[in-house]
Amino acid sequence: MIVLGISSDFHDSSACLVKDGVPLVTAAEERFSYQKHDSGFPELAIKSCLRWAGVQPEEIDFVAYHEEPVVKFSRIMASRLQGFPFTARNFARTVREIVLGQLWVKLDIFRATGVSADKIHMVPHHLSHATYAFSAANLPRAAILVIDAVGEWTSTSLFSAERGDDGNPRIQLLDAVPYPHSLGMVYSAFTAFLGFRVNESENSTMALASFGTPRFAGEVRKIIRAESDGLYSVDPDYFDFSVTDRPPLSRKFYSAFGPARSNKDKLSFACVGESSPVDPRMQHYADVAASIQTVLEEIVFALAARAKRLTGVDSLCLAGGVALNCSMNGRLIRESGFKNVFIPPDPGDGGGALGAALYVSAKFGAPARKGFGPYLGLDYSGRLQTGDLARLEIHEILQHRSKAAVKKFGGFKSETPGFAAIAERVSEKLARGQVIGWFQGRFENGPRALGNRSLLVDPRNAEATRRLSRQVKLRAPFRPYACSLNEEKASVFFDFKDGVPAGTRWMSSAHPVRPQAREFVSEALHVDGTTRPQILARAENQKYHDLISAWEARSGCPALLNTSFNESGYPLVSSPVDAILAFLRTDIDALVVDDVLIEKV
Ligand SMILES: [Fe+2]
Repeated sequence: MIVLGISSDFHDSSACLVKDGVPLVTAAEERFSYQKHDSGFPELAIKSCLRWAGVQPEEIDFVAYHEEPVVKFSRIMASRLQGFPFTARNFARTVREIVLGQLWVKLDIFRATGVSADKIHMVPHHLSHATYAFSAANLPRAAILVIDAVGEWTSTSLFSAERGDDGNPRIQLLDAVPYPHSLGMVYSAFTAFLGFRVNESENSTMALASFGTPRFAGEVRKIIRAESDGLYSVDPDYFDFSVTDRPPLSRKFYSAFGPARSNKDKLSFACVGESSPVDPRMQHYADVAASIQTVLEEIVFALAARAKRLTGVDSLCLAGGVALNCSMNGRLIRESGFKNVFIPPDPGDGGGALGAALYVSAKFGAPARKGFGPYLGLDYSGRLQTGDLARLEIHEILQHRSKAAVKKFGGFKSETPGFAAIAERVSEKLARGQVIGWFQGRFENGPRALGNRSLLVDPRNAEATRRLSRQVKLRAPFRPYACSLNEEKASVFFDFKDGVPAGTRWMSSAHPVRPQAREFVSEALHVDGTTRPQILARAENQKYHDLISAWEARSGCPALLNTSFNESGYPLVSSPVDAILAFLRTDIDALVVDDVLIEKV
């Protein structure tokens, strides 16, 4: 049985294929359209997944969509009507968008695949998230917390889940916090207030929080009120979610926190490079960020405690966009009392496509029986031979990207010396302070680069990291980098009580680094002494594990600084062409694409 899963219309639109309960491939539309967080119908991703898997559209048994558009439509209508007639223009626009877009999703699917409406199943949004997280974890039972902006009418859900004797996951809804009481939306509203892009830069709010003190936490607690039963409510008077063309904040919000930060106001905090004196106005914003982060963690801890009370289980799965908050996740892993806290590789809406597909697959008799990791994207091996590189540059790059960019290239040389020699040469280059593009096999799902589409530098080398930030990533110095290390070395860095927690495998949680190990990751360390690790088992990614070992043998440092392989403003590279283009356009010194080592000349 083949199920095509689709998510779209909010952000990170994605497609996937599930065959007999096993995920075959999944990919976000942004990897093909090159529009970061692309929210359009994922036609390119659908076609790419089908082509990669060798599946013809007529072989698709069912299509699973990650939400129920009609239910969502009713919520959006109701919220617009509340503001009517003051938002009459917005209302008209919304109706048009929904009628033309979301309600016609079945038509879009038919157009892209030829699958008729009776084979298309709409899965409730939070159930899609929950199924994805529980299936990836492969646990016998767990509590699942789904926290995002909103799905249909719900913004936070608590589920209990167990796997039956037949392998089928049984997922039961215990609580649903309704819109507009939304932690995700409040966090995004603060993100807008702090001058960052909503649905994209919530991690900047989290990073800024480490530079502040939560002196406004009392004010934030008036906005998000903890209830005695572990749930929460939001005071809507602080927001105006009916507007779409400015931050959704009311006068009451501004009188509590002052004017919003303009994105032109410089934030001089730094965990990478030297910090300069901080403007007191900017310290104010860091304190606001610390306050919303503190209250978010308080509320999620109360939800986790409720989950434990109601289910009595040892394991907690997290999903929804809020589960990308790695500071919160780190504290949950260390302090929530759950033995396992599991965060899947793509907890946002990209993962929802796969969750919906797995749900429909199980419903029609093909339950997922194995957990899965992040390497479910496309690979391009076989397409790239050394001798083809010149043609690839001229033909494909010209076809795909601007001629002006090609003009600036100085050209490159390539060779295939074998993996051991590549690992040795890359280690030597890293030791000389070079920035390496590392491209291997199938790309990762979700926002984290985990050794298949990564940029690597020596995590002790301030100059190399500064060059990476300024010449490649154009990354704000207050945002910390993450690192990769092999699981055999985890105890060098961290003080975990019961072995390596599952929630540390894919850079989804931040943890304090032992003082004696901080010198190894000085450029991947946040101001609070934490880092966000990928703690890697060799079985999960053998080549990357071996590279880290080769690097340690050469340098004595057991970690690599690892950041996503992309240019500023663009999604992670997908194909060799994307990688070569980014390599040539930026200050990346050397590039490895599968078994080919490429250097500039
Ligand atoms: Fe969601």
